[in-house]
Amino acid sequence: MKKGIFVTSCFWTVFLCLWGKAYPHYSPILAKNLLDELYNDNYSSLVRPSTTVQVNTSLTVYTINSLDIIDQTLSVSGMLSMKWTDPRLAWSSLSDYSAVKFIFNTEENTWVPPIFVQNSVDDMEVISDENWTMRINPDGMITWNPSDVYTVSCECDVKYYPFDTQKCYIIFTTAGYSSMDIQFNADDNAVDVSNYVENGEWKVVSLSAETFGNRAVPSGDVTYSKIQFSFILKRRHIFHIINTIFPVIVMVFLIPLVFKLDLGSSDKTDYALTVLLSYSVYLTMVADRIPSTSVSVCYMSLYLATMLAVSTISVPFGMLVVHVYNKGDAPMHPTIQYLSGTILRNIACCRKLNCCCRERGGTIGNKSDKDGGHGVNHSNSSEEDLRESSSDDDLGYNITWQKTAILLDHVFFMLFLFVVILITFIFFVILAVNY
Ligand SMILES: *[C@@H]1O[C@H](CO)[C@@H](O)[C@H](O)[C@H]1NC(C)=O
Ligand SMILES: *[C@@H]1O[C@H](CO)[C@@H](O)[C@H](O)[C@H]1NC(C)=O
Ligand SMILES: *[C@@H]1O[C@H](CO)[C@@H](O)[C@H](O)[C@H]1NC(C)=O
Repeated sequence: MKKGIFVTSCFWTVFLCLWGKAYPHYSPILAKNLLDELYNDNYSSLVRPSTTVQVNTSLTVYTINSLDIIDQTLSVSGMLSMKWTDPRLAWSSLSDYSAVKFIFNTEENTWVPPIFVQNSVDDMEVISDENWTMRINPDGMITWNPSDVYTVSCECDVKYYPFDTQKCYIIFTTAGYSSMDIQFNADDNAVDVSNYVENGEWKVVSLSAETFGNRAVPSGDVTYSKIQFSFILKRRHIFHIINTIFPVIVMVFLIPLVFKLDLGSSDKTDYALTVLLSYSVYLTMVADRIPSTSVSVCYMSLYLATMLAVSTISVPFGMLVVHVYNKGDAPMHPTIQYLSGTILRNIACCRKLNCCCRERGGTIGNKSDKDGGHGVNHSNSSEEDLRESSSDDDLGYNITWQKTAILLDHVFFMLFLFVVILITFIFFVILAVNY
């Protein structure tokens, strides 16, 4: 056992001694000498390494800090990785330095491609970090990964809020050097999300990279190479469903209910105005969350505005019903009597519910009284039944202001319910088609 260890260690000592003779060990001095040799008087950080420098670029996305719909800006923390080859800094042919696998330097001494974010909203400065170290391989390949928080403008489309998807770009382009001098290449794995931390509000649907302007245009104009990173983000909508969509949809059914209120009481207009106010509150809330542009209209605000209008219209309609009801025994114009007795009744009549009928005269009044007209004086209406049945006997009904009000209430209830359901349905279809 002891013998075996001794033989093995002897073998390694001899091997390392021989190897060390052929190839010098790495030492800080060796690396320092290599740096001195590479960065000699012939090297200038102002001169690009070759006629056209190919810069392989990729973006590592750490977080999406925010997508501000109101300001239309996207903020991303990321690391921009650039790789290019500078043959002046290659030392693989120098066997003296083969022990040095990498050297490091900063942009103070080394040429770096001057690039900037074209759609930045912070500043328009060339990406630069004098303290950010770059790694240089023996074949002259330089890897430089300056990290930053990129805040760019992003045109947001909130048409389908809160089921919207936004597309934003970060565009990098060269400063000074045209596409004849520097060209971007998108790496195979141009967007790296292995370290990505999820954003609470936005879900990443896809990330991609594309290059532009690498080919000179036929007219001979100067073009600038660009690399564009696209972010497709989808809003996480649970919050908005719970806080906006759900209450708004539930509240919508309060609008027609105004016509189910007791006619005798004066609550009708109060109630209608309260519903109207709650709608304006929600309209304000939604308006706060969408940009104040008129490029595209948000369907959600459109829906709320329509509901606000419907709710507003219900106020005078409710007043009309109360007004008609309170006319009491005032004489009715024959035309109104006819309209109310035939047209209104026909609209309001629903045979299934047996709320009114054509078969027997006088039933309408009594039935309606039972259904909704708590304020109707029964003895009064039966007197009127008797009085009016003589003139309208051929049509089989008699009508009073109060019965007209009850009929109106019923018709308006059905009308508003229908309008509200129809608009809500259309709104959902629009959202569902996009979703
Ligand atoms: C600079 O380049 C010239 C021409 O290639 C060469 O003769 C000279 O030795 C170089 N200087 C250094 C310090 O390497
Ligand atoms: C850049 O990418 C091209 C093609 O993907 C590859 O051939 C080249 O070696 C890369 N250059 C560097 C410096 O990584
Ligand atoms: C680089 O480091 C020096 C010394 O730590 C510091 O004074 C300087 O501000 C740094 N530069 C940048 C761009 O951060």
